[in-house]
Amino acid sequence: DTESGDGADGKAAPPDRNGKETLKLGFAQVGSESGWRIAHTNSVIGAAKDAGIELLFRNADQSQERQFESIREFIRQRVDVIAFSPKTETGWEEVLSEAKDAGIPVILSDREVKVKDDSLWTAYIGSDFREEGRRAARWLTEQADREPDRVYRIVELQGTPDSAPALGRKKGFEELIRDDDRFAYAASLEGDFTKRSGKELMAEALEKFGKSIDVVYAHNDDMALGAIEAIEAYGLKPGKDILLISVDATKSAMDALSIGKLNLVVECNPLLGPQLMKAVKDVSQGKDLPMKIITSEGVFTQELVKQVKRNREY
Ligand code: AHR
Repeated sequence: DTESGDGADGKAAPPDRNGKETLKLGFAQVGSESGWRIAHTNSVIGAAKDAGIELLFRNADQSQERQFESIREFIRQRVDVIAFSPKTETGWEEVLSEAKDAGIPVILSDREVKVKDDSLWTAYIGSDFREEGRRAARWLTEQADREPDRVYRIVELQGTPDSAPALGRKKGFEELIRDDDRFAYAASLEGDFTKRSGKELMAEALEKFGKSIDVVYAHNDDMALGAIEAIEAYGLKPGKDILLISVDATKSAMDALSIGKLNLVVECNPLLGPQLMKAVKDVSQGKDLPMKIITSEGVFTQELVKQVKRNREY
């Protein structure tokens, strides 16, 4: 039992369903690859419950195909809003056009897509990944300023190929170091945001480049934590013999930072559920959403972590 009527501009006013009918949200999660992702999933599920929104939650386990299937299932079920965390930036035209044709708004939660027609999605809620990469590089250049004659050989552990966070974090980092002679890449390796891939890739890099590696820049905490294990197994001290920078700021990374095994953690906030539910309600009431809602985030050094660790929610 929804209500409709004439709006002030003569157009049909959007139905006021708030409190009268439960909104239905379909969420196509990318997987469970990292501590960050688990926190994100919990935030979405918890916030839907708190907001009284019915949630159809599907986990694609890193398969873009499965994300397509979930979105199509949501369309068939006539949900009010579809939200998802796209595995990759590209490949979404067809399925998002189907959602648009069905008149269902799509909200991107945490990762953006690259499509020719931006009217295929309504809003993006998440981080500025490029800026996260810049933040990582900014800290490294500050370290280098203290030791002017040193060259830093970097191993980069990338996240899932073609994913928005891997692309953005790589780009932003490179922007600041590429024309600076003090920095050189030993290797930039494709991982998948898991601890296992971080450990394997780091073991390979150590095999090839051994003690000549000065810095590891991991695109997320899980890969950094895997790299720490590989460095220790190789007989070196993470955080001392090799500097480690990572992104996310999950509790386990903050622990590693506080005992000196990580040197910098760039924050990426996964607690996006409440903002998403607000956006779902707003868009269902016909309100305009800003195209991009960017989370404000910081960086944590070994000094700073002591002050903030106790209050971490994820
Ligand atoms: O899209 C956000 C990224 O995806 C997080 O940094 C990473 O941990 C996750 O898997």
